[in-house]
Amino acid sequence: MSGDPVGNDILLSVRDLRTAFDTMDGTVKAVDGVSFAIRRGETLGVVGESGCGKSVTALSILRLIERPGRIVGGSVDFGGRDLLAMSESEIRDVRGNRIAMIFQEPMTSLNPVYTCGRQIAETVQAHRSVSRAEAWEKAVEMLDLVGIPDAGRRAKQFPHQMSGGMRQRVMIAMALSTDPDLLIADEPTTALDVTIQAQIFELIARLREERRMAMLLITHDLGVIAEMADDVVVMYAGQVVEQGDVRSVMTDPHHPYTRGLLASIPRIGERRHRLEVIPGVVPNPLNLPAGCLFRRRCPYAMEICETPPHLTDLGGGRSSRCWLDAEGRAPEVTLPEAAHG
Ligand SMILES: Nc1ncnc2c1ncn2[C@@H]1O[C@H](COP(=O)(O)OP(=O)(O)OP(=O)(O)O)[C@@H](O)[C@H]1O
Ligand SMILES: [Mg+2]
Repeated sequence: MSGDPVGNDILLSVRDLRTAFDTMDGTVKAVDGVSFAIRRGETLGVVGESGCGKSVTALSILRLIERPGRIVGGSVDFGGRDLLAMSESEIRDVRGNRIAMIFQEPMTSLNPVYTCGRQIAETVQAHRSVSRAEAWEKAVEMLDLVGIPDAGRRAKQFPHQMSGGMRQRVMIAMALSTDPDLLIADEPTTALDVTIQAQIFELIARLREERRMAMLLITHDLGVIAEMADDVVVMYAGQVVEQGDVRSVMTDPHHPYTRGLLASIPRIGERRHRLEVIPGVVPNPLNLPAGCLFRRRCPYAMEICETPPHLTDLGGGRSSRCWLDAEGRAPEVTLPEAAHG
């Protein structure tokens, strides 16, 4: 973690972000009051089961939410400006420039009818005043940087002429071609096989180091978080349930959901599956239980959990949304005996 004693090296600060989808059956609060901050050069991991709101959080930051979705409230401060309050043309200039994003499936974000080199060159030209020749040169240089052999020749190829791993490298080359301050990576390797995954993460780690780029890394996989991230945000049903630095969250998890996730990390050599070890299912977003959203799956559930727990500050940059932690901090809260079974 990059330590600035004054604490003014915060690059991105998300506060009380709320994003909803208006469906035929009602309004889904996909992201419900999420807050976190990323310092310059830091990697923040966001983890949680499918549907918990990770991608919607990332898309909301860049204002890429489409109907029937809408950002209902909150702020996203980036370098002193609120991205949510910018004009459409201002946010367009931040996107793919100061903040770049890579997605799970590179084929959907690469244009099949243009060569890979041309797509990178156009990204460069869209944000920098350089000639076509300079932009092309930059594209080849970026392809080389991400470890694509014979980059000059590869630049002239189309996306379908490359393997999945190569295409993901092209995506990374494109994302990094404008030297962003922040990279948002949403499950960047899920579609790739395990060996390629490891290579891509090594590559991202090296480039991040060299460029002191911050990263918001979204994944199902706490193993990836352990290797890549400085801090972690654990999400459940649209809310942050725990956050803190990776080491202390992994060695001393507070929230019962985080404990469940940690217990479900596969052993080395096992193929990583979507998290499925915690008994029960994520609540239906159209029919959320009253009180703690995790209580129906929680081995520690007690009467007080029918009241929604608040995010309790545990000190040292850590917090947890659980009555068990609130009890520790506020002993006057009396808990039923059965709570500790
Ligand atoms: N287009 C949409 N219409 C209606 N609801 C949506 C839409 N997109 C997302 N949602 C809702 O937002 C919730 C969060 O979705 P999101 O894609 O952020 O989950 P996620 O954590 O990224 O999951 P995954 O790990 O599967 O990628 C979903 O559970 C769903 O209820
Ligand atoms: Mg997602």
